[in-house]
Amino acid sequence: MTIKVNQPTQEFHLFNNQVSYIFRVLEKSNQLEHLYYGKRIKHRTSFKHLIEREVRPSCNMFEGDHTSSLEHIKQEYPSFGTTDYRYPAHMVTNNIGSQITNYQYQTYRMIPGKPSISNLPATYVEDNEEAETLEITLVDEVLHSKLILSYTIYTNRNVICRNAKFINEGLEAFYLTNTMSTSVDFPDDQFEMLHLTGAWAREAHVEVQRLTKGIQSIYSARGASSHAHNPFLALKRFDTTEHTGEVYGFSLVYSGNFFGQVEVDTYSVTRVMMGINPFQFKWKLNPTESFQTPECVMVYSNEGLNGMSQTYHDLYRTRLARGFWRDKERPILINNWEATYFNFNEEKILSIAKTAKELGIELFVLDDGWFGERHDDTSSLGDWFENKEKLPNGIQGLSEKVEALGMKFGLWFEPEMVCKDTKLFKEHPDWIIATPNRRPSHGRNQFILDFSREEVVDHIFSSMDHILEKSKISYIKWDMNRYMTEPYSLGLAIDQQGELAHRYILGVYKLYERLIEKYPEILFESCAGGGARLDPGLLYYAPQAWASDDTDAVERLKIQYGTSMVYPLSSIGSHVSAIPNHQVGRITPIDTRAHVAYFGTFGYELDITKLSEKEKEKVKEKTSFFKEKRQLIRNGQFYRLLNPFESNEVSWMVVSDDQKEAIVGLYKVLAKPNDKYYRLPLKGLDPDKLYKIEGKETTHYGDELMNIGIILADDYTDRAGEYWSREKAGDFSSTIFLLKEVHE
Ligand code: DGJ
Repeated sequence: MTIKVNQPTQEFHLFNNQVSYIFRVLEKSNQLEHLYYGKRIKHRTSFKHLIEREVRPSCNMFEGDHTSSLEHIKQEYPSFGTTDYRYPAHMVTNNIGSQITNYQYQTYRMIPGKPSISNLPATYVEDNEEAETLEITLVDEVLHSKLILSYTIYTNRNVICRNAKFINEGLEAFYLTNTMSTSVDFPDDQFEMLHLTGAWAREAHVEVQRLTKGIQSIYSARGASSHAHNPFLALKRFDTTEHTGEVYGFSLVYSGNFFGQVEVDTYSVTRVMMGINPFQFKWKLNPTESFQTPECVMVYSNEGLNGMSQTYHDLYRTRLARGFWRDKERPILINNWEATYFNFNEEKILSIAKTAKELGIELFVLDDGWFGERHDDTSSLGDWFENKEKLPNGIQGLSEKVEALGMKFGLWFEPEMVCKDTKLFKEHPDWIIATPNRRPSHGRNQFILDFSREEVVDHIFSSMDHILEKSKISYIKWDMNRYMTEPYSLGLAIDQQGELAHRYILGVYKLYERLIEKYPEILFESCAGGGARLDPGLLYYAPQAWASDDTDAVERLKIQYGTSMVYPLSSIGSHVSAIPNHQVGRITPIDTRAHVAYFGTFGYELDITKLSEKEKEKVKEKTSFFKEKRQLIRNGQFYRLLNPFESNEVSWMVVSDDQKEAIVGLYKVLAKPNDKYYRLPLKGLDPDKLYKIEGKETTHYGDELMNIGIILADDYTDRAGEYWSREKAGDFSSTIFLLKEVHE
C-alpha cells in the first residue's frame, strides 16, 4: 500500500521507498494543511507533531484564535481572500462578482492505479499495482461547487502526480480565473530554482538562480509552451550537484499557456505552483459542468539533478509516450529541409532518397514546400494538396517510389496554420484567430487557425486524411511556426474569450488523437520552429520532437544537455547537418556532428548527394554504428558528466540496465595548446565488473572508471589521445568510448 490515512487525525500519507508526502484536514476550517514533502519517512499513526504554529500579528479566520491565519499555514491548494495574502492556487468570479472561495474537505477515495484524465494527455499505468491514487473531495457551499484534488503516487518511482477538477453543482454559472494543477508549500527557502530558457535556435538553456523573497516565475502567454520557457522548474539545494543532493522537479503535462511560480514569503516559506497560465484565462463553468486541469508530475530526488532526470526519462518514455512506436527502434531518417529548403522536385528528392538508402538510412522525410504554391514561406499553408510542378506524381507517387527504394516515407505538415493566398483562407476568412476591428499581426506570413472550433479541426483532419489515405506515409513531422496574437475566437461567446488558448490546445490534442486512432502506425515527430513545443503534453501523442532548428553540433551540446533535464533521449530529435552550419556558419568535423546526434533520435539533414566519397563512407559507418547502439541509447540510463554551460569539455554517457555496456560521448569545444592532463570519471557502472574500452589494451574495474576515470592523455596506447589531447584534433573535437563487460 502506498497511501495511508490516519482517520482520527484526518491525515494522509502518500509514500513509497523513496518519497513521503503528508497533509491533513484542518480541524475548524476543514481546509487542507500541507505537512511534509521529501525523502521517505516512516509512517506514524499521527503526524500532529509536524504542525507549526506561531502567534503572529495577522488576520485570523476565527475570532479569538490567533493561530488560524492561512498566511502562516502551509497549504495544499491555497485560496484567495480569507487571510492568505500570497498567490492562490485557484480563483473564481461568481454571480455577485466575488472572487473568494472556501472549499472544505468532504471525503476521500482511494483508487488502485491511475485514472486517465479526460481530453488531456497524462502519464498512465499498465497495471494497477504500479500506482495508487487518492482523490480528495472538497465542497464550497456558497459557490455550490466541488473541487477534487487528485494525487497519484507511483509504487516504484519517486513520482507524485497532481491535478485538480472543479465541478459546478449550483444553478448559476461562475468563472474560473486561476486553476493550478499543483501547489506545494515548503518550510524553507534554501533553494535555487533551475529552469530551461531560450529562444528560437537556442532552446533549453539551463538557468539557475538563488531564490529571493518575493516572486520568481516562468510562463508562456504565446499559445504554445514556447522557446522562451519549458513547462518545467526544479528547486535544488545549494549543494545539490548532478549526482548528489536534493531536488524537486515540477513538470506540467501541457503544451499551451502555462505558468510556474515560486513565491518566497517574508517568513521564508516557499510556495511552488504550476498550471495553466491564469493570465488571459477565464473559463465559464456552467451548472453541471466540470473543468479539468492538466497534470503536474512532481519528482523528488536525493540523487541530484541526474537522478531527477532519470526518473522523468523512464516515466515519460514508458508511461507517457504510448502506442505503436513507444518501445520500437525508431528509424534513422534523412530530412530534405536543410538540403533543398523549398527548392526541389521529384527527381532531386529521389536522388537524395536513393543515396541515403545506399548508406543505410531508413526513412526519407519530405519537409516544407510540397503543397499549393509554396515556393517560399509566404504562401499556401492550409492548401494541403500537392504541387504538381514539383511532384508530378503527387505524394502518392513519390511515396511509392521511395518505398520501392526500400525506404519509408515521411511528410511535413503545419496543420494549425493558414496563409492569406489560400483557397482555405478565401473560403473561411473567419477561421483565423484574430480580434474583430483590430489589425491581425503577422508571423512568418501566416495566421493561426482557430482550433478551438470543431469545424476547423474537422476540416484539417479531412484534408490530411485525404493525403494519408492514398499515400504510403510512415511518419509525420507536425510543425508550428508562429505564436498567437490578437487572441479572439468568433466561435466563442463574449464571456468565453478567456477560454480560447486552452480550447485551442485541446483542439490540437484532438486532431492528434483522431489521426493516431486512424493511423496508429504513423510515427509523429512534433516540431514548433524547433523546440517551442517540446513538452510532456505532446510526448503523449508524438514520442519524438525536433529539439531545435539549430543543427550546429556545438550549439546542440547545450540544447540537448538542457533538454535532457526532463526529456528522454528517445524524444530528442537530432540530425547531422551540412558544414558550414546553416545557423552559425561553424565548421565541425562530421565525427563530432554524429557523436552529438547519436544522443537523440539520430538522423541527417543535408544534401547527401553532394558529399565526397570519403564523407559518404563516414555516413555509412555512422549509420551502421547507430543501428548497433540505438537500443542501448534509447533504453539505457543517461548520465550527464561535464556541463557545456560551465566548461569547454562536455560529456555524457548511457549505461545499459544490466550495466554490461556503456557508451560515452566526450567533446572538446576549443582546442588548447600544451594542455593539462584530463581524466573523465564515469557514472552508473558496476564497481565490481571488469570493463574493456573498445580500442584500448587495458581493462578496468567499474570502481576505477568511476573514481579515477578514463585517463585521457594515455597517449601511447590510446585512441582518445588522437582526438583529444593533440593539437591536430583542432577545435570541436570529440570521441566516443564504448565499454563492455569482460571476464578475466
Ligand atoms: C521550422 C522547422 O523547425 C524546420 O525544421 C522546418 O521544418 C521548417 N519549419 C519548414 O518551414
